[in-house]
Amino acid sequence: MNMYEIILKSKHGEKLSDEEIKWLVKDYVDGTIPDYQVSAWLMAVNLNSMSDEETLCLTMAMKDSGGTVDLSGIDGVTVDKHSTGGVGDKTSLIIGPIAAACGVRVPKMSGKGLGHTGGTIDKLESIPGCSTHLEFDDFIALVNSTGFSIVSQSGDLVPADKKLYALRDATATVDSIPLICSSIMSKKLAMGADCILLDVKTGSGAFMKTPEDAEKLASLMVRTGVNAGKKCMAVITDMDIPLGKAVGNTLEVIEAAEVLKGNAKERLYDLCIELAADMIMMAGKGTKEECVKLAEEAVSSGRALEVFEKSIAGQGGDVSFIDNYDLLGKATTEYEVLSPSDGYIAGINSEEIGLVSLELGAGRRTKESAIDYTAGVILEKEYGDFVKKGDKLFTLYTSGKCDLKAIADKAAAAVTFSSVQPPHRDTVIKIVG
Ligand code: URA
Repeated sequence: MNMYEIILKSKHGEKLSDEEIKWLVKDYVDGTIPDYQVSAWLMAVNLNSMSDEETLCLTMAMKDSGGTVDLSGIDGVTVDKHSTGGVGDKTSLIIGPIAAACGVRVPKMSGKGLGHTGGTIDKLESIPGCSTHLEFDDFIALVNSTGFSIVSQSGDLVPADKKLYALRDATATVDSIPLICSSIMSKKLAMGADCILLDVKTGSGAFMKTPEDAEKLASLMVRTGVNAGKKCMAVITDMDIPLGKAVGNTLEVIEAAEVLKGNAKERLYDLCIELAADMIMMAGKGTKEECVKLAEEAVSSGRALEVFEKSIAGQGGDVSFIDNYDLLGKATTEYEVLSPSDGYIAGINSEEIGLVSLELGAGRRTKESAIDYTAGVILEKEYGDFVKKGDKLFTLYTSGKCDLKAIADKAAAAVTFSSVQPPHRDTVIKIVG
């Protein structure tokens, strides 16, 4: 095999054979093919795309580049859920316990946040004592006893993605639909759950800026999952505005607890019920309507909150914060962002709010950056609300040193005002598969 010829083929939009793709992945992981050649190939794929067959082959070759997870010790149908990443997206902390309370097994491995999007692992690690590094047997035992556990992705899973993602990040080739699909699906398939639910975000805070691109990615991921023998479906959801009121680690944990307590029945709750119902349905527990009722009942009865508490405690977390949020630690500084004008809120740019949260210390600029768990943003107003000049739009939280005035200006600039009530926006845009 010859990497130069492979680059040439992809540059001309010609299809690569299975052997060529497998060789490329294996020899790149081994260190035989240099970064500069793979960078050139990634750019060719970014510009010319790949066929479904090539994407499936790349996904499987990436999955096979390392170890896979053996979930056979779990009793019952396993459902994994993946979100393509967003701002204020704490759904995994909510829908895992809801689905588990309805008899679904939810073993999940997750990653840390990078850039403007948050990571589930960081949110969990903001809970005092909560570890996301469990021994594998303890992880399986916790899923068997509570139905739900989220741990950090094991080190030997899909090494090809670690190398390729770092290279894509440095070569402006992240936003390629087949490359995103193979990156996500190789990890999902290595995780080995029976069913996979994909939450594909679209809008300003998402990789896929338009619903059309989100649908292309969702369909490709579902086809890849099904071709790999899994039950797989995708839900395309709105990330043009942040999800819920909280952005930032402890702030999001508190909001998740409030939803599980049944105290927050808004857009975030509705989306969580929808996604949890899809997981419950995929596990064969009933029709969608029946599963929606099961999910709602899991929250109203307190059973989902109980699963959350038991699972966090099983990972060493101190769950007394559920009755006293101050135990999570509070930011040393709070700063109010006031509305510069009167009007209806017609947009809150997710990406900008994600960046505001990052600047306050809630996120990482590089993989090695430290995080301020107490930092973040509370959205005091929602899309569609009418505000008067001087009303509170956001509260910013940080325990670090930053230019709060400049950050506040950035937050205020993320809001679009309108003199007329903006149209209703659906959180779930489309279901694929
Ligand atoms: N998330 C991933 O895991 N991979 C991508 O390529 C994009 C988002």
